[in-house]
Amino acid sequence: MQDLGGKPVIVRTYEATKATKLFDEVYVVTDSDIIFNEIELNGGKAIMSKKEHDCGSDRIAEAVEHMDVDIIVNVQGDEPFTSKLGLEQVLAVFNGADADKIDLASLMTEIYDWKEISDPNAVKVVVDKNNFAQYFSRSPIPYPRDKNVSVQYYKHKGIYAFRKEALMDFHKLPMRALEAAEKIECIRYLEYGKNIKMAINNNEGIEIDTPEDLIRANRALKESSTTAVNNKYRNFPMVPKVIFGQGSFDQLPSILADKRKEQAPFIYLVDDVFKKNEAFLDKLTLRFNDKLLFVSTLEEPKTEQVDTIVKNIKNEFTYLPSGIIGIGGGSVLDLAKAVSLLLTNKGSAADYQGWDLLSNKGVYHVGIPTISGTGAEVSRTAILTGPEKKLGLNSDFTPYDQVVLDPDLTQGVPKNQWFFTGMDCFIHCVESLNGTFLNAFSESYGEKAYDLCKEIFLTENLSDAESRAKLMMASWHGGMSIAYSQVGVAHAMSYGLSYVLGTKHGVGNCIVFDHLHEYYPKDVALFKEMVKMHNITIPQNVCSNLTEDQMETMIDIALSLVPLWENALGDDWENIMTRDKLKELYLKM
Ligand SMILES: [Fe+2]
Repeated sequence: MQDLGGKPVIVRTYEATKATKLFDEVYVVTDSDIIFNEIELNGGKAIMSKKEHDCGSDRIAEAVEHMDVDIIVNVQGDEPFTSKLGLEQVLAVFNGADADKIDLASLMTEIYDWKEISDPNAVKVVVDKNNFAQYFSRSPIPYPRDKNVSVQYYKHKGIYAFRKEALMDFHKLPMRALEAAEKIECIRYLEYGKNIKMAINNNEGIEIDTPEDLIRANRALKESSTTAVNNKYRNFPMVPKVIFGQGSFDQLPSILADKRKEQAPFIYLVDDVFKKNEAFLDKLTLRFNDKLLFVSTLEEPKTEQVDTIVKNIKNEFTYLPSGIIGIGGGSVLDLAKAVSLLLTNKGSAADYQGWDLLSNKGVYHVGIPTISGTGAEVSRTAILTGPEKKLGLNSDFTPYDQVVLDPDLTQGVPKNQWFFTGMDCFIHCVESLNGTFLNAFSESYGEKAYDLCKEIFLTENLSDAESRAKLMMASWHGGMSIAYSQVGVAHAMSYGLSYVLGTKHGVGNCIVFDHLHEYYPKDVALFKEMVKMHNITIPQNVCSNLTEDQMETMIDIALSLVPLWENALGDDWENIMTRDKLKELYLKM
């Protein structure tokens, strides 16, 4: 009955379960008058269970005894964020080839941290090669006698789907010793020879068992509600210090000198294309215990990657770093912002994907772009791919404290990458200038960046140095433009591509934008001209071999980016951009 964003947790759980549209009926089964009345008051269906029960399965068995039903799913009342995906997975096992052998199904999550593996509150499960459960325990199973054998540990998640017969049997069977000793109800099924099929689900939902969980849950709820973002007035921070010009990179040591705290290192996160670039590395004047970490940018940055870097820094150094210096393209710049923030905010980067979820200022952070276009050097977000979504850490603490814009650093970028990243900037301008959120502020930045992009990519009268300097400024202005508006169709769809296929952001944007003449006719034509002039090949048919599941996930990810659609298509966007329409567009790409 605790309040979660204005409604009791149980009501939220009920509504979320109903909203999945996976069930013929959803009931709350309870022995509490208060809960029963609350559900009925909210227009839901509740069943009063008559007597005290040892566990949830018994209670549910009583409720469904006289119902005509095949499969019953037990959703815990304290899991308001139970994901549709998890419920789909647990139901899907009953459609598999071995369905007739299955008495019940449940979920498990891969775990890696020994603290969690050895925590008796986390129930571990071992499975056979077909993912049938062999045993559940609060002890670490298997015991790692040989530390060199790599073994995957799984944590059991409390979602069950039962065949009615299995559930009714359970009800009648007396508890045996293993269940009694471990206090794990599903052991009873194993003790009586039932088959439990497990599906892997790595989405970390929030169960509400403690007051701290409730705080996290309220935060997660705030994040998922789009009203958390004030689209009319934005009071956003800008980068307070920026140095610009050819050779300005050489100023870095003197910029950092003031910021150095005794014994606290500077950590450099550098794009690994510079690994063999001696001339460049010589310019990085590492002192004392400063550390240089090369970052691969083959993939878009992930929340896990941030967590690992932060963990390593904390393990290696006694003091928080004096600063984090990100040197590279958009991926490295976003990664460095995120690392700075996670050094001072507890938990995983995935906890903070959304708007204004961070509580603490990050460690001093400096951004130095070596490719221009993404606007990451100026933006208020750090885009990360997490276990459930691709979404930025969007907060007042995210922007860099210092940016160094040296056009010389963008020399030698491979042509394709230069083009794709530059087009990211062009598309920022197009989406901002054609969006419903546009105002004079974003328009002024957007127009300048748009003109610069046309000059860079459609004329031949710029020297290389001029072109680099102009693209650097276009990137900055494009980033500023979307700060007071939003991106649109191409970005929403491109996020779907990169979530499912790992497509890099710039390429993804181009793959999508190439097919968006319906939404941005004039600019898609200009884009095609640029592609032709620079002899660039845009990948085609990337979606033609997707499985049905992949396509559905891609559509889910794209549609979850509500503000982008609102900006692109207005309030009525849901009627314009249907799942079918999105699928049709993706299939062209
Ligand atoms: Fe972008």
